[in-house]
Amino acid sequence: MAQFLNKVAIVTGASSGIGKGVAMHLASLGCCLSLSGRNRDNLNETRLKCLESSNGLVKENQIIVVEGDLVDEINRVNLINKTIDHFGRLDVLVNSAGIIAKGTVEVTPPDVWDKVMDVNVKTVFHLTQLAIPHLKKTKGNIVNVSSVNGLRAFAGVAAYCVSKAALDQLTRNTALELAADGVRVNSVNPGVIITEIHKRGGMSDEEYAAFLEKSKTTHPLGRPGNVDEVARAVRFLADNQDSSFITGVTLSVDGGRNLVCPR
Ligand SMILES: NC(=O)c1ccc[n+]([C@@H]2O[C@H](COP(=O)([O-])OP(=O)(O)OC[C@H]3O[C@@H](n4cnc5c(N)ncnc54)[C@H](OP(=O)(O)O)[C@@H]3O)[C@@H](O)[C@H]2O)c1
Repeated sequence: MAQFLNKVAIVTGASSGIGKGVAMHLASLGCCLSLSGRNRDNLNETRLKCLESSNGLVKENQIIVVEGDLVDEINRVNLINKTIDHFGRLDVLVNSAGIIAKGTVEVTPPDVWDKVMDVNVKTVFHLTQLAIPHLKKTKGNIVNVSSVNGLRAFAGVAAYCVSKAALDQLTRNTALELAADGVRVNSVNPGVIITEIHKRGGMSDEEYAAFLEKSKTTHPLGRPGNVDEVARAVRFLADNQDSSFITGVTLSVDGGRNLVCPR
């Protein structure tokens, strides 16, 4: 795992859930980190947890926090610039920031559609664009956090499903275009993972408890997943040794969820 020692990774969505788990896992392997999110207190907490989990491998000045709403272009530019100014290089971009919104095709308001597309697709597209020159220099890689919803249609979360399908195609396009430069681009496609996203997307505590209970039946492995299980898959795809010949994949981390068909 010496692969990550003194490498530099940007992790978006690092203030919560999967992004936080990815940051802590990469820190435990000695990776320097640029942590992106909107909530400063939560980012600072992630930073402390990363320092703790690195067990001294990562020093105080090797983890920076870059706060800002990624829907604003200025914050996307700032994230890349601050990272390069501080560390002088970029090896890995993990795009984990994302939102979900309820709504069928019939009732989703266009502004909700735009917001989901902005956060889940446009920010990833633009951060990718800004990161490319730096990743070419290091022969680095990108890992996008997509979803089983990008691979399969689920009723009632139309914008989210379409955004993740678009993200998967962005992963493939970017992988193809950057392959000659030795830059790999992949995604993980999780099933239900216990984080804040569903409650933030409008589920009440009771609905969320019922949703997790139901996940025992909708996931063939019989349970929802946890953040660490996704973080380990992200680590695998970001590791230029372990996944050196893998690019453009959508790696399901979903307990078999994408396999299920009614019969
Ligand atoms: N949990 C699941 O079941 C599941 C399943 C499949 C895929 N995913 C994907 O996993 C990724 C992470 O989600 P999660 O489950 O970890 O959710 P989460 O706990 O709600 O975390 C979402 C993260 O995204 C950040 N974020 C949201 N909007 C942002 C914006 N406009 N600008 C900057 N940062 C923003 C949040 O920052 P702040 O908190 O600082 O605002 C937070 O750090 C998402 O892309 C999601 O689609 C999740």
